[in-house]
Amino acid sequence: MEITEQLALILEKAVSEANQAESVKEIEAIRVSYLGKKGEITSVLKGMKDVSPQERPIIGKKANEVRDELTAVLQRKKARLEKEALDLKLESETIDVTLPGRQVSKGQSHVLTQIMEEIEDLFLGMGYQIIEGSEVESDYYNFERVNLPQNHPARDMQDTFYITSDVLLRTHTSPIQARTLENHDFSKGPLKMISPGKVYRRDTDDATHSHQFHQIEGMVIDENITMADLKGTLELLARKMFGEDREIRLRPSYFPFTEPSVEVDVSCFKCGGQGCNVCKKTGWIEILGAGMTHPNVLEMSGVDSSKYGGFAFGLGPDRIAMLKYGVDDIRNFYLNDQRFLKQFKRKG
Ligand code: PHE
Repeated sequence: MEITEQLALILEKAVSEANQAESVKEIEAIRVSYLGKKGEITSVLKGMKDVSPQERPIIGKKANEVRDELTAVLQRKKARLEKEALDLKLESETIDVTLPGRQVSKGQSHVLTQIMEEIEDLFLGMGYQIIEGSEVESDYYNFERVNLPQNHPARDMQDTFYITSDVLLRTHTSPIQARTLENHDFSKGPLKMISPGKVYRRDTDDATHSHQFHQIEGMVIDENITMADLKGTLELLARKMFGEDREIRLRPSYFPFTEPSVEVDVSCFKCGGQGCNVCKKTGWIEILGAGMTHPNVLEMSGVDSSKYGGFAFGLGPDRIAMLKYGVDDIRNFYLNDQRFLKQFKRKG
């Protein structure tokens, strides 16, 4: 048989195979078996060396035509199969763009974190540093170094969880006063700090007591600090927390680490001082304890109390949040109940 006829037959066979192919993979196999290195058309072309020089251009031309045609047929079929496969896929994966989207629920900070961050912002703006201490503390720093020696009666108010007889869960943030004072270099400037954190007491949990709660300690030590500085600072704090119209008043009190010591009340934000159920008809609400740092606390930390002095205060974010939002049970803060927590969305 003549080579050109042979080529025509091969083309016919290849085209009919291509027509029957059902996948891109089959098309590729057909291409390899005809046009590949060992393919049928290729081997026919290899036989050209035995053909006479006159016939060679004719056969060469025919072979190129056959190759081009088959290539075109295979390409067309491949494109069709690919489109079919894609159509099928699209059909099976239809997306209804008119369906409403799934709502992503956004988290938020816990209400107590919000209150603490608000207070931190206020004090950072006044040049205070934020210093965090450890919740596991030694008896020495928690009590002795803030002027509460062994067997001091004021320890009774702050019973706690002991890990050993010398190591306990801190009952207040005041140990950070001592820890910061002993490391402070006064030649570099005054000490102005606040320390927010968790504290613990062996209290029986009820609506206003929890064995774990929060405090923010504040302390300023420098030369010539007076009680007027303390009052001005706390007034600013009270107004930030409870509104610009608030007044504060200081009442004498006792803390071992401050002398004199005061309880600080804020004028009632609900009734403005007239007397209501929030302020128990007094017009005032107690919000924190404070005082002028006791010289013993300074001296025990190696600070010269004849030269330096200042004030300290301790407030409870839990109590502030309860007052501010009218929460009547402190335990709500610790139940992780989304329905309760979601009510306190931070503005902005
Ligand atoms: N540490 C005190 C308490 O827990 C609060 C306080 C701090 C009072 C600093 C005065 C000065 O009761």
